[in-house]
Amino acid sequence: MTRRSLILDTDPGQDDAIALLLALASPELVLDAVTTVAGNVPQPLVTENALGLLALADREDIPVYRGCERPMVRTLATAEHVHGPTGVDGAVLPKSTVGPRPEHGVDAIISRCLDADDGTVTLCPIGPLTNIAMAIVKDPRIVPKIREIVWMGGAFNEPGNTSSLAEFNAYVDPHAAHVVFTSGAPLTVFPLDVTHRALMLPEHVEALEAFGSAVAKAAAGMIRFYERHDIAKYGILGTPLHDPCVIAYLIDPEIFTGHEAHIAIDHADEDTIGNTSETPDREPNATVMTDLDADAFFSLVVDRVGSL
Ligand code: RIB
Ligand code: CA
Repeated sequence: MTRRSLILDTDPGQDDAIALLLALASPELVLDAVTTVAGNVPQPLVTENALGLLALADREDIPVYRGCERPMVRTLATAEHVHGPTGVDGAVLPKSTVGPRPEHGVDAIISRCLDADDGTVTLCPIGPLTNIAMAIVKDPRIVPKIREIVWMGGAFNEPGNTSSLAEFNAYVDPHAAHVVFTSGAPLTVFPLDVTHRALMLPEHVEALEAFGSAVAKAAAGMIRFYERHDIAKYGILGTPLHDPCVIAYLIDPEIFTGHEAHIAIDHADEDTIGNTSETPDREPNATVMTDLDADAFFSLVVDRVGSL
């Protein structure tokens, strides 16, 4: 089996945490590095959370690089009301014994890309696209090195979750998303259109917790905290597991269905900022995922994270 390596760019975040743990639990993948970006909560919390998750999984061999402190243009908007003040409320993560590497996350993305052959680097941003965009702006030579950018973000035929139009990762840094969308790098997007169909139900959480490991109990605790916001907001029995969709796609792309499209993001008008849309009759610049086999998805998430 050829293992696929990836760089996870993340703003943990309980759903980010499940995505990271799923990557660690999957023999098809090699988590080369983690870069952190301000989003759900500010720096240094996102970096501490990434380090704590790797300590929880006994994988402190994986390097963590602290990335951007704020979006490219806008001031930082965070989501403690969803994720709690720590960003990973529902679990108490172990303290890291190693800390972040000294290189900035943007520079780590650049150096790892430039060291790679063309078309071989998979970047998995599951937060605002600030680090990815800054790396492209700082050194455009990385673009031909990129095999695929797989991003959780945007909302097309689905209302936003941060404004009526905009999804959080797009809303926080729409200028970064514009840089990435126009970069020419191969792009696969997991918007709310698909992630709102990845609803983690109580039976999934119970099955995960029943594995009994420290990882399984921490993961279940984080989801139980995280789900209260969406259950109250949407009145549904379950919580969308946004970010793990990116990792599940790398493991088994057949779980998902989508289509190619030209996508763009509003980044000027305050009333529509962060709105993502498809532009018909334009050369596609992305694959937009719109549906999934939820049973297959949750079987993967529960069995793998539970067994870590
Ligand atoms: O809109 C959902 C996205 O915003 C997820 O990545 C979640 O972690 C938050 O960052
Ligand atoms: Ca995230």
